[in-house]
Amino acid sequence: ALSKCISEIFKDPPFKSQITVNGWVKGVRVQKSIAFIDVSDGTSFQNLMCVVPPDQAKELRTGVSVQITGEIKESKGKSQHLELKTTDPDSVKLLGAVLDSYPLQKKFHSSQFLRTIPHLRWKTQFLSSILRFRSHVEMVLMEFFTQEQFTKTHPPLITLSDCEGAGELFKVESASRADMANKFFGKDSYLTVSTQLHLEVLCMALSRVWTLTPCFRAEESNTNRHLSEFWMLEAEIAFLSDVRQLTTFCEKMIKYVVNALRQDLEGQGSNLINSRRDQELVHKMTERWDQLLNSRWKTITYTEAIDILSTESSKGNISFQFKPTWGESLQSEHEKWLTGEYFKSPVFVLDYPKDFKPFYMTRNPDGKTVACFDLLVPDVGELIGGSMREQNIDLLLDEIKQRNMKTDNIEWYLSLRSSGSVSHGGFGMGFERLLCYLGCVENIRDVIPFPRSSNDCVC
Ligand code: 4AD
Ligand code: MG
Repeated sequence: ALSKCISEIFKDPPFKSQITVNGWVKGVRVQKSIAFIDVSDGTSFQNLMCVVPPDQAKELRTGVSVQITGEIKESKGKSQHLELKTTDPDSVKLLGAVLDSYPLQKKFHSSQFLRTIPHLRWKTQFLSSILRFRSHVEMVLMEFFTQEQFTKTHPPLITLSDCEGAGELFKVESASRADMANKFFGKDSYLTVSTQLHLEVLCMALSRVWTLTPCFRAEESNTNRHLSEFWMLEAEIAFLSDVRQLTTFCEKMIKYVVNALRQDLEGQGSNLINSRRDQELVHKMTERWDQLLNSRWKTITYTEAIDILSTESSKGNISFQFKPTWGESLQSEHEKWLTGEYFKSPVFVLDYPKDFKPFYMTRNPDGKTVACFDLLVPDVGELIGGSMREQNIDLLLDEIKQRNMKTDNIEWYLSLRSSGSVSHGGFGMGFERLLCYLGCVENIRDVIPFPRSSNDCVC
């Protein structure tokens, strides 16, 4: 069996028996007759305070790995209710030492500094709590989709086509490569930007499918909400009648996650975050969660969004760097203002002009807009993008032609429309953006273990 980890010890304290704990030292305090060693193994936000004879703490310092054997006791200390007490000689074993240059000390390190030590930063309490948070959110989403009768599927990451048509593809192999002896597929192939097209295939067989996969985009934009390798949650649903069913579903999904997080935080057994120590953060998060739980989110059309933005800026209530103009994309300043200042809530924006959305979206009767939505949220901006998928093969082909797209590699996709097709739609949610939003984390690089963005692929 595995040795006891610290989260297990806090959940169900094994009083009155000798146990062995493994972990890393977060701080050492040596007094005359006693020494206190703060140990973490990353399974909990809580450190286990180990009380040992001072001579056994001699070699210990922040960062070293240790194995300590002793008995779990109630603690008299203010900041914890349990401690591990050892009395035997040799009950503390140094497993791995650290160099003098070890950069993590028992003090506050800024996120910015921590990003310069990508191989060590997850050892800090705050960042490790983000990875536990990430893991927990994924687990809750799994629960949600299972309850909603979805099948989790696993579409490919190497593809032959550009789903989004935004030209941000990473090439895996080029058919025209001079060195044909080493060819693999012998075709142009890419890392996927979205698994949607394959998900639509699976949806036409399983009705409700979802996935959570890496997606790759060679975007130049170096912002705190873009990565070139990010995880996208995508769902595709058959037998839908309109886009409002999708927005209702997305609202339900996020509220489900938030409810689960809230319950976890209120329960005693939370391993996610130190609600006593990180009070400010917890306050900010719970305020955000309550606000989004207790409201029915706003829904407006793109045209209404442009109206609001232009009216308010012409009234002088806000000034934008980019003038809001019908037919142009909403800029991130527009999105942030609409959600953070004007509505102070998540906002679904429906029916964008078709010209800056991908080829597969269902045309609205006005001929100019498509049956799609973006979910915009405060601070983060666009969290979800989704739409109904064009059913009419003639309109689909017309759109493809207008965009000068090739059909060679998507014949299979097009033929779905004549293989027992049904009205369907779906969406994609940036998983890191969800974590930034729900965890009140400013920079997307702090919610993914090894971030990749343009000119930034370090470790
Ligand atoms: O809006 P997008 O481009 O939509 C699609 O790719 C659809 N095919 C999804 C679908 O309908 N199945 O991307 C979806 C979401 C965005 O709203 C955003 O949250 C996230 O993916 N996203 C990124 N997250 C981090 N870094 C990037 N570079 C991102 N690009 C998109
Ligand atoms: Mg989008």
